[in-house]
Amino acid sequence: MSNETKIITKGFLFVLEGIDGSGKTCACKDLVKRLQDDGYDVVHLREPTKESQWGKEIRAKSPVGELTPEEELELYTRDREWHIANRIQPALEEGKVVLMDRYFFASGAYQSTVLDLHWKEILRRNREGISAPEPDIVFILDVPAEIGLERATGRTGKANLQFEKLDRLIKVRQNYLEMVENDSATFELIDAKNSLDQVVDEIYDIITDTIILNT
Ligand code: TMP
Repeated sequence: MSNETKIITKGFLFVLEGIDGSGKTCACKDLVKRLQDDGYDVVHLREPTKESQWGKEIRAKSPVGELTPEEELELYTRDREWHIANRIQPALEEGKVVLMDRYFFASGAYQSTVLDLHWKEILRRNREGISAPEPDIVFILDVPAEIGLERATGRTGKANLQFEKLDRLIKVRQNYLEMVENDSATFELIDAKNSLDQVVDEIYDIITDTIILNT
């Protein structure tokens, strides 16, 4: 633990992505705490947001199936545009360490499974359409879909609903793995079958090395 605020000369953007049940939300919270204890000025953000009218609409309507896949993609994009202008860009300009729980890679991985759009096209729209800043590193917390689903829902779901969800998560995971191989972003593939502590240690080391090497 350090009481001194660490001054860094530029902002950093780190993103945690992964299928439902990959453990990224818990990992994000632990990482924020560790980095803050070290004295870094950390901003913890997540998408969809709880702040913009579009984020609120997704959170209210998406779980109850009130949105078409096209409407969902539109809302995620509008929410992100708001998020970039009002939270992400200002924090980066102030030289903060921004840690995000999901970003536009989630739209590529998830929305491409229900729309006739390749993940590459969805990523392109985010980069070119709303000028989404490129992260320093995208961590993909990788677990098999069966493990993710079990962690996210337990074994209580109805069999056919579970099967549908599993089928989708298999595709989402595949999309993330394809991005690691084929997309231009800087990725780190993390084995999220490991314990939360191991996952957090691994990401923490990469983040702190990256900050130290680049400031
Ligand atoms: P969570 O698992 O981080 O709570 O995210 C909630 C859900 O939102 C998750 O099932 C993935 C979905 N999602 C998308 O489908 N597209 C997106 O662009 C984002 C940010 C999230």
